[in-house]
Amino acid sequence: MYMDSASNIDGQMSIFDFIDHEQGEVSNGIIRLYNEDCFETMKNMKDGDIDLILTSPFYNTNKKAGKNLTLENTPKVKHGRRVWVRYDVHVDNMTDDEYCDYSVNLFNEFDRIVGQNGGVLYNINYGAENTNGMFKAVNAIITQTNFSIADVIAWKKKSALPNNCSPNRLTRIIEFVFVFCRKDEMKTFRMNKKMVSMRDNGQKMYENIFNFVEAKNNDGSCPYNKATYSTELCEKLLSMYAPDGATIYDPFMGSGTTAVACKRMGLNCIGSEISTNQVKYEIDRLKNEFFTMQDGKDLFYKLKE
Ligand SMILES: C[S@@+](CC[C@H](N)C(=O)[O-])C[C@H]1O[C@@H](n2cnc3c(N)ncnc32)[C@H](O)[C@@H]1O
Repeated sequence: MYMDSASNIDGQMSIFDFIDHEQGEVSNGIIRLYNEDCFETMKNMKDGDIDLILTSPFYNTNKKAGKNLTLENTPKVKHGRRVWVRYDVHVDNMTDDEYCDYSVNLFNEFDRIVGQNGGVLYNINYGAENTNGMFKAVNAIITQTNFSIADVIAWKKKSALPNNCSPNRLTRIIEFVFVFCRKDEMKTFRMNKKMVSMRDNGQKMYENIFNFVEAKNNDGSCPYNKATYSTELCEKLLSMYAPDGATIYDPFMGSGTTAVACKRMGLNCIGSEISTNQVKYEIDRLKNEFFTMQDGKDLFYKLKE
């Protein structure tokens, strides 16, 4: 059963909602889902509420998905599939300049809600239809916000759509995960890297963690979103960057992959998603995997009225 009305979340959201005030301890594995524009959700967060952002935004790479096409309003086109359309509600047709401005506004808000030494794990890729747009957006972020690129991780997927109709373009089997940190936290931003030894001169030596992750493409088909990532990817990234008991925010929650990974790892997760169908899908997904999850206990959600 879904909530008929807008919400099972009362009042303002804050990190302090994760604290059991009687025990004085932070609770783990609490999931809060907001069926709204991520800027709305972030507006209600206090400064520094979030430890780490893990997300995959819309890529804005699909010019053919322009003209206001969505999975909801597009007739099936080829072999029964709406081949160029990825989302049920979101229309993926900003200009590159609009996408840059959007990304800058987003990261300025991340700057406010992410606590000291927290970071942003940002999965994004270029597409055959728009190779440059992603790089322009990344450039806008690093030149117009307080964030810088700390690392770039190559995510090698299990499979890729062969680009056989092109005589000269590569088949894209990797995607990027940009690790952003604040410019003035480059030496201090958090990572779960273990020290392995200390040299005679006192220099600390750390384990090697490579900037290459192999993980499944996705967790299966979602009828409302054709651009989902996998819990395997999320779990590998979270194990690299999320402190114990951290609060993770995914502003573009889609089918709920980040939330499932967080729940498995005992992390708190807040997600925003504009598609009501996808938020309902997320709730079902969580309840199917975690039988003991309960509304108002470890699962909170706000559906559109
Ligand atoms: C690439 S998908 C995310 C997929 C997700 N990582 C998953 O595994 O299911 C991007 C999602 O962002 C959502 N979206 C677009 N604009 C949004 C906004 N302003 N606020 C919240 N969600 C938004 C889209 O509806 C889409 O589901």
